[in-house]
Formats: sequence, structure tokens, C-alpha cells
Amino acid sequence: MVKASAPGKCILFGEHAVVYGQPAVACSINQRMVVELEEENKFDSWRLDGGILNFSKHPHIDFLKEKLWPENVMPPLKIRIRGNVPTASGLGSSAALSVALVAALQQLRQEEVDSGIAGQLSHQAEAFAQGGRASPIDTATSASGGFVVLSDTVDETLEHIGERSLQHRDEVTTWQLHSFVADIPDDTYLVIGNTGVHGSTSKQVAKVASLLEQHPERHVEIEAIGSIARRGIEALRTGDMESVGKAMTENHIVLRSLGVSSPELEKLIKAAAPSSLGVKLTGSGGGGCMIALTKNPEKTVGAIEMEGGRAFISPFNSPGVRIETLSSQDNSTQ
Ligand code: PMV
Repeated sequence: MVKASAPGKCILFGEHAVVYGQPAVACSINQRMVVELEEENKFDSWRLDGGILNFSKHPHIDFLKEKLWPENVMPPLKIRIRGNVPTASGLGSSAALSVALVAALQQLRQEEVDSGIAGQLSHQAEAFAQGGRASPIDTATSASGGFVVLSDTVDETLEHIGERSLQHRDEVTTWQLHSFVADIPDDTYLVIGNTGVHGSTSKQVAKVASLLEQHPERHVEIEAIGSIARRGIEALRTGDMESVGKAMTENHIVLRSLGVSSPELEKLIKAAAPSSLGVKLTGSGGGGCMIALTKNPEKTVGAIEMEGGRAFISPFNSPGVRIETLSSQDNSTQ
């Protein structure tokens, strides 16, 4: 049996503006998806969590099977999926699952487990599952852990960790991925507050697109988010948490003016603000999650829960994809 895990992510700066070429910054969170694989010769098909795996319902798994066993001579496998990354909340649960699955399959095939390849293959699997389009930020952050910056050009001031291209119909999109080391004090945490409302990324992206089409002058707000993100990166690198928090709150104000917040998000953000250095929505908005940068994580969690949100604490720099050692409990299930 092999077991691999990979973290979810949240976007610290730059959502929506990244669609128009501005940089976006994501970081790994404490919550992880875990995949266990076991060769199971008593069956002749793949099984998922006890039942026969219906590949049409699991396009990520289907894509990876075709990619890794193109001749269709794969061994029968038992797959078990667990994890505590909330689904459909903008925290990258599906990317984390794809990344962990690639690593577990690499281990099972006795290949070197490589976070770069895991990031690349899982991005292709995500794109396949989403009908051809997917930004690589979720899979790259989940694979590498720490901080990832996505932009459309190479930024010489950051560590360039790769390029991703995706062809959708006749259009090829290319992204540049970067990383940097952030100097985060030990007493500073992220608190993630989940509204429990599932926002739709495509709807929120379309909403911003139509606003910009009707009011082209509002592109200044997209540029403003870009400069806030650059300022946020600088503050993260120098460990200036007050400035990181300030930049997060400013980023939220611009996102709100673009119309992608929601009453539920605003309620949680207002509750978290007094105990935090900065607060903002994370991801596409319209529901989903908010994040707070705080030195009082318990107080911030309490304030969010008082308003009906579900909250959890995440330290920074959670490790990327990794192979897990099997515990005696895992072995007893064999
Ligand atoms: O909600 P998420 O984590 O899927 O983030 C969406 C981020 C957007 O910038 C709104 C869209 C995108 O494709 O980058």
C-alpha cells in the first residue's frame, strides 16, 4: 500500500486581476487531501472507497490512468480518498486530490516522486476535468507548498519555478510560476472562514468581465490589485506583517467594489477584522471563504463562528506533496 498527501491553498492577493495578466499570490494551507492506493488482485477493475470506480464520474482519475497506462495494462487498484480540505470552497481541494493521486501513483510505479511532475500532470488532469480550462495556481501551490506567484511574464525578482501551457481549442495560454521565501513570524497565522455558500468561479469571473466591458475605465481597479499584490509580496519577504495585513484589506476593498463579495462574506470579514492585521475574501468570491491574518487566531476563529461561519487556523509554509509513512493502523487494514 502507498499513501500520499497534498495541501489545499488559498489566494492571498490577486484573484480576478490575474485573469487580466496581473500577478496572483497563493499559499499552501494546513488542510490536506490524502490518497491511499493498494494493488488488489482479487478484482479486475479499479475500486474507489469500497465501490467500483466509475471513471466517467472521476475525470481526474480517468485522465491519469490514460496518461500513465496508455496501453491499458494497468494493475487492479483500490483507491481510498480522505482529507479535510473543504470542497467547492475555493481552497483547491480537487487540485490537492489530483496532486496527491499523482504522487501516490508515481510511488506505486516505483518512479521518483517529483513535485514538479506532480504539479504538471495534475494541472493537465484538472484542465481535462474542467473541460479544458484551469489556471495552474492550485496544483502548483499544492505540489510545492509555501508561496506561489502566477503571472503572464517572468518576474526576475522572484524564483522562477516553471512555465505551464495549456491548449484549449485554438488558443494556447502560457503562465509563469514563481516562488519566494516569506519571513513569517511564528506568532502569525491565517484563519480561514467558510461561509458554507458555494460560489461559482465561472459566474464571478463573467461578472467582472461584463463590468469591465461596460466600464473600461474600471481597469484601473485591476491594475490597483496588481500593485497591491506586488506590495504584499515585498511585505511577506521582509516579514512586515502589518503591511501584509494592510495590503490584504486593501485588496478586499477593491474586490468588493468589483462586486465579487457577498453579504455572507462581509459578515465574516467584519467579525474577524477587530482581532486581525488584515482580512479579505479568497478565491472567486460570491460565497466560499474569507481569510484573516492574525496574531490572535483563537479569538478570530471565535468571532467568525459567532457569525455562523466555520473557521480553522492554518500556519504558513505547510509542506507540499509528500509520501506518508504507513502507520500500524494503515497496515491493519491491508
Ligand atoms: O475560487 P478559486 O480558488 O477557484 O479562485 C479563482 C480565482 C480567479 O482569479 C477568480 C479565477 C482564475 O481563474 O484565476
